[in-house]
Amino acid sequence: MNILFAVPEATPFAKTGGLADVAGALPSALAERGHRVHLFLPLYREIQEQGLKLNEITTVTVPLGTTQVSGSIIKVSSGHPNLSISLIRQDDFFDRPFLYGPPEKEYPDNGIRFIFFCRAILEAVAALDLEIDIYHAHDWQTALIPVYLKTLYKDRPRYQGGSLFTIHNLGYQGIQDKKLMPITGLGWEEFTFERLEFFDRLNLLKGGLVYADALNTVSRAYSREILQAEFGFGLEPVLQQRRKDLYGILNGVDYQEWNPADDPFISNHFRLGRMTGKKSCKKKLTAAFNLPDKNRLPLIGMVSRLVTQKGFDLILPLLKKVNEFRAQFIFLGTGEPEIEEGLTSLAHQHPTQIAFRRGYDNRLAHLIEAGADIFLMPSHYEPCGLNQMYSLRYGTVPLVRAVGGLDDSITSFDRENLSGNGFKFSAYTTAALEEALNEALQLYQEPRLWNKLRQNGMRNDFSWSQSAVKYEELYEKIKKSVSK
Ligand code: ADP
Ligand code: GLC
Repeated sequence: MNILFAVPEATPFAKTGGLADVAGALPSALAERGHRVHLFLPLYREIQEQGLKLNEITTVTVPLGTTQVSGSIIKVSSGHPNLSISLIRQDDFFDRPFLYGPPEKEYPDNGIRFIFFCRAILEAVAALDLEIDIYHAHDWQTALIPVYLKTLYKDRPRYQGGSLFTIHNLGYQGIQDKKLMPITGLGWEEFTFERLEFFDRLNLLKGGLVYADALNTVSRAYSREILQAEFGFGLEPVLQQRRKDLYGILNGVDYQEWNPADDPFISNHFRLGRMTGKKSCKKKLTAAFNLPDKNRLPLIGMVSRLVTQKGFDLILPLLKKVNEFRAQFIFLGTGEPEIEEGLTSLAHQHPTQIAFRRGYDNRLAHLIEAGADIFLMPSHYEPCGLNQMYSLRYGTVPLVRAVGGLDDSITSFDRENLSGNGFKFSAYTTAALEEALNEALQLYQEPRLWNKLRQNGMRNDFSWSQSAVKYEELYEKIKKSVSK
């Protein structure tokens, strides 16, 4: 099949979160299965600075309201004959210090930037003479692609492929002032309750939900949760209407990138059966975060965007009484100023037990996965979550809340039959988190059981090849339904 993959971020080019990991791995897994995949991504400043060989292939011109804006299509090498990577260059829009804006602030013209991106991709399809079977769009930034295919491009013979829209996080909807409607090129008849209107504003994500031939989220559990008001962010009625076209496919792990046996970001490698390297990683990790080396104490790590989604309103109160726990805590992340300030001040108050590094650092993220004993993910909601699956491979036991992909990938350890790969709690309360933490700290004191738990996780296989087959089946289904 010919698959167009439209994303606002992808490793190794540009990343703010898990979507980049998905977009870096799934297209390759599909290419590996014999599909022809065309990945499209904006050419951000940080990609320009990577010293890649950028080959300009062609240019496209996009109408944005009454003006025309041009962009270039730049090819970069993908390393796989079936995968082509095209970067859309438009320096006024994308040659900026951040992808979407500085932490907690959006660039005010994000709507226009990504309206341009969507149309530029569709124009590139003609300019590059592509025949596409499936247009696979992800998150609000590319949600207009399914809309355009059913409206402005509907009668153009080249654009008869089906579309899949993947929801990675319903909390980000790309809501814009309605004055952007003319910039989209869509008529006002699209600005209705049934289509793109949302409380008198333009909701780009909603467009994708309404118009794509099929929808999916990144876990089965999240695909059910978003039908309820608690997780639907106001779009649950739209999702309920599209229920029969809504699927859940758990993300995979790129084990070439996340493998303790040959991870280039750590110097002491380890694997199931040869775990001494993990001890050295723990020492290096505490040293890197200036914590005293207390090897006997369990080390709890977390790498995260610092946003309420991730459960910091449970974590901060818990940490206030950190001296009740025989454990050390390490946090890496950037995000909301109140969470950054909370962690900074707790680390100051408890310098032997809590360390916090504000920032985005892939090397440290790998070191935390390798060196920690327990990985914390008490999310309020979690469409999939990748770190819990990375943790499993590194023998770092996930402690998670039973939501979304965390619930689908983690099962509680059972002392009786020695099954399970982590710790899980349900109620969104600090007390429930504390109970799960105490259970984990207790089990840590029983090395035989702890080793068994770790081994169970290290044996799990969440590789992309399995999820890629599920996407392939869904693409087939869409292709059949649109050719009817
Ligand atoms: P989300 O996409 O909601 O942020 P995921 O668990 O799916 O959550 O993916 C987060 C990804 O981003 C992981 O690969 C994680 O290691 C990475 N990450 C998040 N924050 C940081 C950080 N401060 N430094 C390095 N990597 C980070
Ligand atoms: C989103 C979600 C996260 C998911 C990622 C990749 O950012 O918050 O749970 O793993 O997308 O699908």
